[in-house]
Amino acid sequence: MKKITSEQLRNLYIDFFKSKGHSQIPSASVIPENDPTVLFTTAGMHPLVPYLLGEKHPQGNRLTDFQKCIRTGDIDEVGDNSHCTFFEMLGNWSLGDYFKEKMIPYSYEFLTSEKYLGIDKNKIAVSVFAGDETVPRDEESAKLWHECGIDKKDIYFLPRKNNWWGPAGTTGPCGPDTEMFIKVKEKCGENCSPACDCGAFLEIWNDVFMAYNKLSDGAYADLKQKNVDTGMGLERTLCVLNEKKSVFDTDLFEDALKKLEELTGKKYEESAQITKAFRVILDHVRTSVFMIGDEKGIVPSNVDQGYILRRILRRAIRFARQIDLQENGILEIAKVFIQKYKNVYPELAKNENKIKTEIAKEYQKFTKTLEAGLKEFEKTVSKLDGETIDGLTAFHLFDTFGFPLEITKELAGEKNLKVDEEGYKKAFYEHQQKSRAGSEQKFACGLADHQEATTNLHTATHLLHAALKQVISPDICQKGSNITAERLRFDFNLDRPCTKEELENVENLVNSIINKDVPVVMQEMTVDEAKNKNYVGLFENKYGQKVKTYKIGDFSKEICGGPHANSTGELGQFKIVKEQSCGAGIRRIKAILIK
Ligand code: ALA
Repeated sequence: MKKITSEQLRNLYIDFFKSKGHSQIPSASVIPENDPTVLFTTAGMHPLVPYLLGEKHPQGNRLTDFQKCIRTGDIDEVGDNSHCTFFEMLGNWSLGDYFKEKMIPYSYEFLTSEKYLGIDKNKIAVSVFAGDETVPRDEESAKLWHECGIDKKDIYFLPRKNNWWGPAGTTGPCGPDTEMFIKVKEKCGENCSPACDCGAFLEIWNDVFMAYNKLSDGAYADLKQKNVDTGMGLERTLCVLNEKKSVFDTDLFEDALKKLEELTGKKYEESAQITKAFRVILDHVRTSVFMIGDEKGIVPSNVDQGYILRRILRRAIRFARQIDLQENGILEIAKVFIQKYKNVYPELAKNENKIKTEIAKEYQKFTKTLEAGLKEFEKTVSKLDGETIDGLTAFHLFDTFGFPLEITKELAGEKNLKVDEEGYKKAFYEHQQKSRAGSEQKFACGLADHQEATTNLHTATHLLHAALKQVISPDICQKGSNITAERLRFDFNLDRPCTKEELENVENLVNSIINKDVPVVMQEMTVDEAKNKNYVGLFENKYGQKVKTYKIGDFSKEICGGPHANSTGELGQFKIVKEQSCGAGIRRIKAILIK
C-alpha cells in the first residue's frame, strides 16, 4: 500500500470529491449547533443535520470536508492501538442528489485508483446491510460492489448491529450503511467476518445511505430526500495504509511523541506502562488543545463540555506524573500540537495563549489537591472491607479533592476494586438536596444546582457578604441565602434600610474584586483552625472534623461546602437589583451577574 501523510490524505480526499462536483465546506466547531442531545460533534454529518432533513445548503447538494470530532464514550480504552478521544473525519455528502449507484463506484475509485489511494482490490472487503423487518436486505449495494470488481467472497451481509448508522444524537437522520475494510491478516476461522474482533479486518470508511429520520418516540420516518453521508477516520486510515501498529505511530503524533521522549528521557516502547502513559497524554493533550482552541472555546468546569475537558486534562495530568512530566512539559506538548495543526485549523494558533493559560490553570488547581487526594484514596483502600469503594467516599474524593468519578474508578481498577457508582450518584444528589435545604435554613452555600451560572453567583455571594461587612458594619452576618442560575438572594442582620450610597459602594467594591481576577482558594482545615484564621461561618454547624474553607484574596474568608468559580474574573459584572425588609431586623438583597 502507498505510504501517505495526513496532509496528503486530507488533500487527496478533498481533491477527489471536488473533481466529482463537490464543494468543500469548512470544519465546524466541536460543539454542535442546536443539538441539545449531545455535547460534542461526533461525526462529519453532525453539522449537516438540517440539510440532511431537507433544508437547502448554500453551497449546493454535493459537499465534502474534514471535520473535527470528539467522542469520549470510550475514554478508558485510550492507550490501546486505535482509540482516540479526538479525531478528524473526512466526508462527502449528497443531499438528495446521487445515492448508492454513484457512491459505491466513487468509493471504489478513490480506494483503488493509482491516482488516489491505490489499494489492491483484493485487499478490500466490504459489508452491507443484511435487512430486517423494517428495512430490506441491501442487494443493490452488494451488486454494485461486485460490478466494481470486489469478489463475492469479500462482500459480507451483516445485521443492524453492524451495518446501520445513526442518528448522531438520540433523534435524526440515519440509515443502513456499507463499510469498507482492509484485510490485514488471515481470517481466524470459517465464520470470521468484518464483525469479528480478531483483527483480520480493519475498517477505514463508511457510506451511510441516509433515508430515515429517527423520531423521539423511537419510530423511523422516511426522510424527504435520500442522502449519502460518508465518513473516513483520518487517524485510523493513516494507520492502516502506512501499516503502523497504532494511530499514535502516524505522522499526526510523531513530533509530540518525540518531544515527550526528549522531555522525560524515556522511550515510548520501553514498557507497556510507559507506552500507555505516552498514549494517554498524547491523546488527551491533543483533545484539550482542540477543545480550548475551538472557535466556541471550552474551559474546564464542573458541567457539560467543561466537565469532560476537566476529566480529560486531569487524566492526562495523572498519567504525566507517572513519567515525571510537569506542567511545563504538558504545555510543551500542547505547543507541538498547535504547531502541527495550525495550518489546517488556524483557530489553534489564534487561541494559543488561551490554550496554554487554561491548561496551566487546571494543572495548578488539580495538582494542589492531587497528592492529598491520592493519600486519601490509599487510606480508604487500606481500610476497605470488601472490594467496593462506597459512593460517599467517591463523592468526597470528587467534592474535596477534585477527582472526577472516572479517575477514582480507574485508580480502583488498578487495584482490582470497584466503585459503587449508584451510591456516588445518590451522594451527589443528596449533597445537592442538603445544600438546597441549607439555604433555607440560613446556611451558606445553598445552591439550586452546580451550573456554572449558579456557581458564579455563589462566589458573588461571598463577595457581597464581605463587602457588606466593610461598607456597613463588621457585625453584619448572613441570615439566609438562596441561589439559582438567575440570581442570588442574601439575607443579613440590619435594623434599617441600606442607603443608596451604601448599596452603590457595596456594588463598586464587589466589582473591583471581580475586575482584579482574584483566585478563589479552597483549603480543608479543622473548625478550630478556621476560627483562629478568622474564617466566617456557622461553627456549630460542623459536619465531621474538617471543614472546607474558601478564601478570596484577603477580601473574603468563609467556611463553605462549595462549589465556587476558580477566580473572580469569571463572574461578570455584579449588580444589586433589590434591597428590602425581610422580617424584624433582617434585610434582603437580590443581585445578578451580567456577562
Ligand atoms: N456518519 C457516518 C460515521 O460517522 C459516516 O461513520
